[in-house]
Amino acid sequence: MELFLDPDDSRPLSTQLYEQLRTAIVEGRLEPGARLTPSRTAAADLGVARATVTDAYGRLSAEGYVEGRSGGGSVVSAAPAHVRTRVSVPALAPTERAAAIAAYDPAPGARAAFDFRPGRLDPALFPVAAWRRCVVRTLDRAPGQYEDPAGTPELRETLAHWVARSRGVSATAEETFVTSGAGHAVDLIARVLAEPGTTVAVEEPGYPPVVAVLRSHGLRVVGVPVDDHGIVVEAIPAESRIVYVTPSHQYPLGMVMARRRRLELLDWAARAGAAVIEDDYDSEFRHTVRPLEPMQRLDRDGRVIYVGTFSKSLSPALRIGFLVAPATLIPALRAVRQAVDWCPPPATQQALTHFIADGHLDRHLRRSRRRYTDRHRLMREALDRFLPSGYHVLPAEAGLHLTVTGPADAADAELWPALRQQGLQVSSLRYTYAFDEPRSGFLLGFAALPEQSVGPAVRGLSAALAASAHHR
Ligand SMILES: Cc1ncc(COP(=O)(O)O)c(C=O)c1O
Repeated sequence: MELFLDPDDSRPLSTQLYEQLRTAIVEGRLEPGARLTPSRTAAADLGVARATVTDAYGRLSAEGYVEGRSGGGSVVSAAPAHVRTRVSVPALAPTERAAAIAAYDPAPGARAAFDFRPGRLDPALFPVAAWRRCVVRTLDRAPGQYEDPAGTPELRETLAHWVARSRGVSATAEETFVTSGAGHAVDLIARVLAEPGTTVAVEEPGYPPVVAVLRSHGLRVVGVPVDDHGIVVEAIPAESRIVYVTPSHQYPLGMVMARRRRLELLDWAARAGAAVIEDDYDSEFRHTVRPLEPMQRLDRDGRVIYVGTFSKSLSPALRIGFLVAPATLIPALRAVRQAVDWCPPPATQQALTHFIADGHLDRHLRRSRRRYTDRHRLMREALDRFLPSGYHVLPAEAGLHLTVTGPADAADAELWPALRQQGLQVSSLRYTYAFDEPRSGFLLGFAALPEQSVGPAVRGLSAALAASAHHR
């Protein structure tokens, strides 16, 4: 334990030592059985006479806080329980704005026999051997300095080519900026494009962490309804400076934003002088139809910022994504990222560069697309077969989750324990409504469920739903 002595303190040095150690024991920072640093070592570390330390240890021993060990030295004794309670003075509290932000997933590490939470991937599909080789290669370069906050030049170049080739996004390396995922990209964009109080429009229902991050910056976030073709453009408040959308696969309802609607939104943004954030979080996984042209490519006025992530295509645990922004924004983004945490982790960036450049990402996507398309089909069939009446699956041709709507009077509170009993983790559709009366239902991620688990998981879910309907 680190000890501090203050030469300006009028109390003797041994008293200062004694009091620090006693407080640490009382607060539980030094636990029963913990060994005190030998007096000779502690005296040398602190630059005091050994007697100063032995005097402090002697007082602790006389009062029963420590006891001698037969092999020499002192250990903290098992003091009465009341002595161990941690002293906590409630002096600091988050601001009202921060306290109002609720965690979207309060237990991200929780395990379940069948995990339907969207955002989970099947660890068995992760290309461990290829990724390991790419990581090992990064060890050739010793880390010794901060790197470019926008990302390494190699990764930016690689991403610009990859996103052009795989999604038709028009990007140069200079416009491509590496982030810690899509959510972080939105955070950075908000920091450089909006003053506190600025109005930002988001889809309702939508992706809760984005609403939370925008609110955390003191922005005025408004929810705009979506219909079968995407965000309802005429409902966007005229004063909005940013519009955040998920055109490839609306989160959470799953529809694809129609081409005509994309053009209408771009037109609106040009007239309003607003920016559009196009979050393309999972369009690598398209199960039936061909993808539409990204809004970024349809944009003639430099208003779209395209956001991509490797959270679905590779792993959410890597925390890596990117944005493609008009070059005019890059210097400000770079300065902000440097102020917050300097740069994305260079080793992960190098590994990802090798992984993409050597063709592993394309191979992995081909393989995982086949598996996820199978799971999508199996899940759809099982839901059609087993879901009790009142529950409906929304059509979704892309992505890694299906959305089910439920009856208006569904009682989540009763359902949750029943789901846990069946070993199921699901995510409620209600949480995706931040403004309007929420619809009942679920988001059912299928990426983490091996094919043989889909049937049992859906049967368990349906049984829990039927049991809770019984209680209504
Ligand atoms: C709409 C949306 N955007 C982005 C993400 C991914 O975020 P990140 O890249 O921060 O992990 C998700 C993940 O589920 C999502 O649903």
